[in-house]
Amino acid sequence: MWSALLRTTVLSGALVPVAYTQISPPDFPPLPVPITSGYTQTDLDQLWQSVEQSGIPVVKANITRVLEPLANFSVSPEPPRFRPAYLQANTSSVKLPKGFLYGVSTSATQVEGAVKEGGRGPSSWDWVCHNVPSTCSGQTPDVVVNEYYLYKQDIQRVKAMGVNTFSFSFAWSRILPFGGKGSPVSEEGLQFYDNFIDELLKNGIEPVATLFHWDTPINLMSQGGFLNRSIVEDFNNYASIVFQRYGNKVKTWITFNEPLAYCAVYSTFPFDPSQKGGASAALTPFICAPNLIEAHATAVQTYRGLVSQGKIAKGKISIKHDGQKPLPFDPDSESDRQVADRVADFFEG
Ligand SMILES: *[C@@H]1O[C@H](CO)[C@@H](O)[C@H](O)[C@H]1NC(C)=O
Ligand SMILES: *[C@@H]1O[C@H](CO)[C@@H](O)[C@H](O)[C@H]1NC(C)=O
Ligand SMILES: *[C@@H]1O[C@H](CO)[C@@H](O)[C@H](O)[C@H]1NC(C)=O
Ligand SMILES: *[C@@H]1O[C@H](CO)[C@@H](O)[C@H](O)[C@H]1NC(C)=O
Repeated sequence: MWSALLRTTVLSGALVPVAYTQISPPDFPPLPVPITSGYTQTDLDQLWQSVEQSGIPVVKANITRVLEPLANFSVSPEPPRFRPAYLQANTSSVKLPKGFLYGVSTSATQVEGAVKEGGRGPSSWDWVCHNVPSTCSGQTPDVVVNEYYLYKQDIQRVKAMGVNTFSFSFAWSRILPFGGKGSPVSEEGLQFYDNFIDELLKNGIEPVATLFHWDTPINLMSQGGFLNRSIVEDFNNYASIVFQRYGNKVKTWITFNEPLAYCAVYSTFPFDPSQKGGASAALTPFICAPNLIEAHATAVQTYRGLVSQGKIAKGKISIKHDGQKPLPFDPDSESDRQVADRVADFFEG
């Protein structure tokens, strides 16, 4: 069941993790020693050394400067329309409601690349894809589609598709290399997202921003990650920095992407954190989930507080569930209807 959910989760990017159930604790080297003060360049290098202890070095892309959109850019011709039987009806009078957001979606790890640029710290994905390559089918987040440098061209392609929305996620460790409240803030990291969001707005595409799409800073994983209640304050600190920086440009916010799937597979995917937090694999979802939900709720309060103090513009904020609303097998059966409702309640809350 989780396998099906995860496959739908990772459709959008080049990095397609598979077979997380095969990962077992002995495959995992120890996490780096947590850094809780000082936060020097040497400390950051030490975190990256822990990523590269596998002997697989982080590679750089061949293109390491922002390219301008191609002047002669043109879109490939539209492919022949696929019209399944249920769409044979004449739909020319059907219109999407006004304000409907229709677009594309990415996550930072799957598209950005440039993992060491601008003082970025390693995330759980950098660490696991280098140290336990089977988790990531032998791929790494090092370059992927190099959006960090090619975002202007990417945005032209998205615009050419005729959509009005681009949903993306921030990489926590690009903004706070060490993750926690004490971490220095990377101005270069913040500037990248300013440039990216400005480019979207300039092209008439609405940004939808997600704070967390499964890429916990490795320095927080070393302290238990979502099994440590301190993550609530650390996430709130990160969220507050992001809201204050972009709150006048971004009007649609998502705190967590697919929290149910994330906490459900926490003990095995993206990696086994059993060295920290003292929890058994069976218990981890029940420790992760309340911490994550509290982090969500706290960040939402922070957002609303900033709006009511007039510090940022009023927008919308929510959590993004991988939910489902099944239809009852027999719509005339009361018990089938109840079962369908219960499934929806379980997934959507
Ligand atoms: C850089 O270009 C070379 C030559 O085309 C290629 O072999 C190599 O894989 C590229 N490196 C990356 C990180 O894309
Ligand atoms: C577009 O322009 C670039 C140089 O700016 C050139 O290398 C490329 O071949 C051109 N592409 C087309 C399809 O004309
Ligand atoms: C579809 O319906 C519209 C009116 O709603 C009509 O103008 C058009 O001719 C119809 N197209 C076909 C293929 O029936
Ligand atoms: C939880 O986090 C706090 C603060 O970051 C840290 O002091 C503590 O050691 C962590 N607990 C574990 C089990 O790592």
